[in-house]
Amino acid sequence: MSKNKADANDDSRRDFMMKVSLGLGGLAAVAVSVPVVGALIAPLLEAKPELWRSVGSPDEFPVGTTKLVTFENADPKTWAGTTARTAAWVRHEEDNKFTVFSVNCTHLGCPVRWEKDAELFMCPCHGGVYYKDGSVAAGPPPIPLPQYAVRVEQGQVQVGTAPIPITNFGDNSTV
Ligand code: FES
Repeated sequence: MSKNKADANDDSRRDFMMKVSLGLGGLAAVAVSVPVVGALIAPLLEAKPELWRSVGSPDEFPVGTTKLVTFENADPKTWAGTTARTAAWVRHEEDNKFTVFSVNCTHLGCPVRWEKDAELFMCPCHGGVYYKDGSVAAGPPPIPLPQYAVRVEQGQVQVGTAPIPITNFGDNSTV
């Protein structure tokens, strides 16, 4: 009789341990699945990218000058940090007529710099050179600097952004 009582105690202990194991297993499954499901649906919940970025009033860009501006990408990710920001060269051609060039060289993507006295964009990586209109002057770049869409609205020069300018190089024109 005492053996049966011991068996009953063992069964009861086994049931209890099984329930505890199942409970802990369920909690672990929830703990693992919540971030995974969150990562999967996060892109669906993100707001649509804003396509136009204000980079300053027209007065900040004297006619005939070329100035570097920075702005947030059209499609910044929450984890992007400073990489969510990009840059472009804004050239004020004439009264309220602007051209905005990508900073990325069309050879391998290095950032080009503006040489004011020479009126050339220079790439420090392999010697690529572009004229002030973005066309290739020398070196390995295969095509001109891409241009962003630009407009003046609400007293601001606004740049039409794209997620990654270099992905649009195929059309040889705007980003
Ligand atoms: S990346 Fe500019 S010339 Fe190569």
